[in-house]
Amino acid sequence: MSERRDRAAWFEGGDAKCDDIPSPKGRPYRLVLLGPPGVGKGTQAELLCKSLGTCHLSTGDVFRAAQCQTDHSPALQAALEAMRRGELVSDGLVVSMVSERSGCLSCRGGFLLDGFPRTAAQAVALDELLEQQDVGLDAVLSYELPLGEIVDRLSGRRTCSKCKAVFHVTARPPQKEGVCDLCGGQLIQREDDRPESIRVRMRAYEESTKPLADYYQQSGRQVPIRAEGTPETILERSLDALQTLAVSPKV
Ligand code: AP5
Repeated sequence: MSERRDRAAWFEGGDAKCDDIPSPKGRPYRLVLLGPPGVGKGTQAELLCKSLGTCHLSTGDVFRAAQCQTDHSPALQAALEAMRRGELVSDGLVVSMVSERSGCLSCRGGFLLDGFPRTAAQAVALDELLEQQDVGLDAVLSYELPLGEIVDRLSGRRTCSKCKAVFHVTARPPQKEGVCDLCGGQLIQREDDRPESIRVRMRAYEESTKPLADYYQQSGRQVPIRAEGTPETILERSLDALQTLAVSPKV
């Protein structure tokens, strides 16, 4: 299995074919990662995908990839401007973008959704898409961390401009400053990691995404995970939680 999948169907839309279809190690997992901006969802997604053999599907990555293209529809242009300010993209656009890629939800390798759903309306839409694809959600891993640590993680984040790998200036530094260990690309600071955008993102999280925890709590699918410690420690907590779910009777 390659370290980073091409995820062609996710990035380019439903008609694109992936060169590297996931082959899960054991059962295919279908998971949602929930948590505030900067808590480490993307970092955990990468580690979990390596460990479980599944595919990382991030709506934020799709929007950032679209930023590099020149030909934007007015709706996409508005979405990219909202993203730069730290606001949420409209439910309508996000849901239609995920719907176009709904084949990824029934991929035999399973999936790990990062950054979607983010509002109650998106969660309802996801449930409908899963029902259409005749698959179910195994768990919603909900990462929790005090605000001070979140701000440290966001302000120190550096992202590869080419392969999108994520580093941190102190917690996960690259071997050579400013250069991606994986592909040699230039490391940059995301536009929405500026202090004014971080404030808007945290507010959007409190108002729109946090209430989702109640939605998933009620359905018994949500598992809280403490996000303090090293990425590897948090991975272990996540895998333990999945193990426990697998042996517990369904709620
Ligand atoms: P998105 O890309 O989803 O961003 P986010 O949710 O704000 O999450 P982040 O990517 O900022 O953080 P993360 O939790 O993945 O943390 P990471 O692993 O990088 O969305 C961006 C924007 O797109 C949104 O604001 C919105 O505009 C739009 N959008 C996307 N989806 C949408 C939707 N469904 N609806 C509406 N709008 C949508 O880690 C952060 C840093 O910490 C890194 O530097 C990392 O190296 C470091 N780190 C990670 N773990 C640890 C650790 N254990 N210890 C120390 N450092 C660590």
